[in-house]
Amino acid sequence: MAETITFKVNGETKTVSLEGHEKLLEILRDKLSLTGTKCGCDDASCGACTVVVNGEAKKSCVFPQAKLAGAEVTTIEGLAGKAGELHPIQQAMIDGGAVQCGYCIPGIVMELHGLFSKNPDAGHDEITEALSRHFCRCTGYEAIMASALLAQKYLKEGKGGKKS
Ligand code: FES
Ligand code: FES
Repeated sequence: MAETITFKVNGETKTVSLEGHEKLLEILRDKLSLTGTKCGCDDASCGACTVVVNGEAKKSCVFPQAKLAGAEVTTIEGLAGKAGELHPIQQAMIDGGAVQCGYCIPGIVMELHGLFSKNPDAGHDEITEALSRHFCRCTGYEAIMASALLAQKYLKEGKGGKKS
């Protein structure tokens, strides 16, 4: 009999059958069709696969299956509002010009979501440290840092946006 695992994703309880030691990244993308979580390296180097697990930003390509049962996972698909309005961090990435190809952005958004949920007043050094876990091959990091600071401001103001 196939082993199963039950955990919450974006507020919904999911039970998936496992085939060996699948990574959280594989479970999200291949079993739950949550393909907003990206794979850039598959070895914990790039940060593209970052999701929030139990309130902490985690790299899903190396998150241990053994810790997944009963966990609460939030992916990029879980951030937009019910009417499709963008989350303030997503809106800030657009407004701050951080998005070019966009491949790294879901992971960066989830990293910042984890950081600002725990510490809304995170300072420049803490934001820099969080962003240091992410590679972006397009923008350089100035626009991403500016967008992160804008995201912090938007979160305090409760500013989101409309999905276009
Ligand atoms: S895919 Fe997980 S860190 Fe790169
Ligand atoms: S926007 Fe292309 S990798 Fe970051």
